[in-house]
Amino acid sequence: MKSVILGITLGLIIAGNATFAANSLTVIPQPQQVEVQAGRFTLTSGTRIYTDFASQATAKFLTAPLRTATGYPLKNGIQFFRDSTIANSILLTDKNANTNLGPEGYELTVASNSIVIRAPTQTGLFYGVQTLLQLLPPEIFSTNAVSNVAWQIPCVHIQDWPRFQWRGFMLDVSRHFFNKSEVETFLDAMALHKLNTFHWHLTDDHGWRIEIKKYPKLTEIGAWRAGNGFGFPSNSTTAYGADGRYGGFYTQDDIREVIQYAAARHITIVPEIEMPGHATAALAAYPQYSCTGGPFTPSMTAGIFNGIYDPAKEETFVFLANILKEVAQLFPGQYIHIGGDEVPKETWQNSADCQALMKREGLKNEEELQSWFVRRIEKSVNADGKRMIGWSEILQGGLPQNAAVMDWIGGAKEAARAGHDVVMTPTAYCYFDFYQSTNRAGEPKAAGWGGPLLLNKMYAFEPMPTNVPPELQSHILGAQGNLWTEQISNLKHAEYMAFPRACALAEITWSAKDARNWDDFMRRLQVHAQRLDELGINYRHAALETPEPNLVK
Ligand code: ACM
Repeated sequence: MKSVILGITLGLIIAGNATFAANSLTVIPQPQQVEVQAGRFTLTSGTRIYTDFASQATAKFLTAPLRTATGYPLKNGIQFFRDSTIANSILLTDKNANTNLGPEGYELTVASNSIVIRAPTQTGLFYGVQTLLQLLPPEIFSTNAVSNVAWQIPCVHIQDWPRFQWRGFMLDVSRHFFNKSEVETFLDAMALHKLNTFHWHLTDDHGWRIEIKKYPKLTEIGAWRAGNGFGFPSNSTTAYGADGRYGGFYTQDDIREVIQYAAARHITIVPEIEMPGHATAALAAYPQYSCTGGPFTPSMTAGIFNGIYDPAKEETFVFLANILKEVAQLFPGQYIHIGGDEVPKETWQNSADCQALMKREGLKNEEELQSWFVRRIEKSVNADGKRMIGWSEILQGGLPQNAAVMDWIGGAKEAARAGHDVVMTPTAYCYFDFYQSTNRAGEPKAAGWGGPLLLNKMYAFEPMPTNVPPELQSHILGAQGNLWTEQISNLKHAEYMAFPRACALAEITWSAKDARNWDDFMRRLQVHAQRLDELGINYRHAALETPEPNLVK
């Protein structure tokens, strides 16, 4: 009853003042164009959802939460589909849509007795559904039926599309292993925020997480270490195997399942297979592809600076090409991430074979050797029908032509100048493993080598670098938040680090630059946090309060 009265009061305010009304919506990320109108649609037990045949799967992402939270039957009528508004109905269709909205755009019209979501693609329609859910009271995300809620939606006309095509989130499953269902939890949270690219950091020094049929020891040996190794009390840490070792891996069937789960939510997965460095776990299993012969163990303490492949052995490239072929066959997306960061050069300096190779190939230094390595790998990736992407360092010594760069320590401008596409993940703004407060003592342990990355600093991030000239700006595909997990021991801890910073990232990558408004974001975040509560997603609650001073210089 209280919320009905509140709803009526708000309705009057909305009728009288359109500006105030627009500010009463709480959608994150902020849509591109919003016109709030007088009145509201009320969802009732008699509301019907109509979809055309092609939009049935998308409609399920609407009917499922609506039925669960309201307890209403909400019949879904494909057989009665007509492309016209019907009283007390919600229509989802990709017919007669405005193609100018682009491949991810949608139009959402809420009138007092009908709702229409129209989009040229199912992706756009899916995002229209996400917005519609956020126009309802946050209890719509409840996983049980809730009574005493007025299921009202303000009348509104929204036209919406993303600013950037790459709206990413990276999860490091090597340092801490997240199982399939934990990964799917993140994919659901990404969908809620219209994030569309999941970068799956599948291999590193501390664990190899993807089954490769041709090389079973990668997971038999490389997926396990003696303990967590990062100093967590064992009872705070998940991911112990049946034998007490720490780790885990995904079978290829697991991978296929997660890919499907992501695709249903319009999320592309970019798998990362690290090379030529960060390879200790792989070399623990197959030390013959190292310069020194090992031994290696998949841990942080042993051999990390030797965890680098030997480019002087032809068999190394056969091994990596075979791995990349299986990866390419599994993942339908266009990109394979090959890492390429932080390659210690001492091992190659100390290897007579590497030095002989450099002489033979006319390579002046180890940076050029790395570039030579990356070029060979790119040929494999391209032969498998994929494009290569790698961290900033793949620019060192020259970059193969159709490769893309993930800028974490610079290089965006040089890469764009040379015609490469770029994804922005600068450490100062995109590292979700950094502290969220200047008061470290009040926070769970986090990565201390950079940061802190406060929410207001995250919100001030501008993905388009100032030094990239206008004619090259189309090379900046977007941005991504990276969750490294050396300091993370379980899912709830990971969520705490990701949210609400990922909510800010969603707005930065989706919404118009000039629509950015910190105070309004914080107003919307208060309601959005209730959605996260309903969904059981953990986040830093203190971030909802008055922020510490913005540290942007
Ligand atoms: C990185 O953080 N080493 C890409």
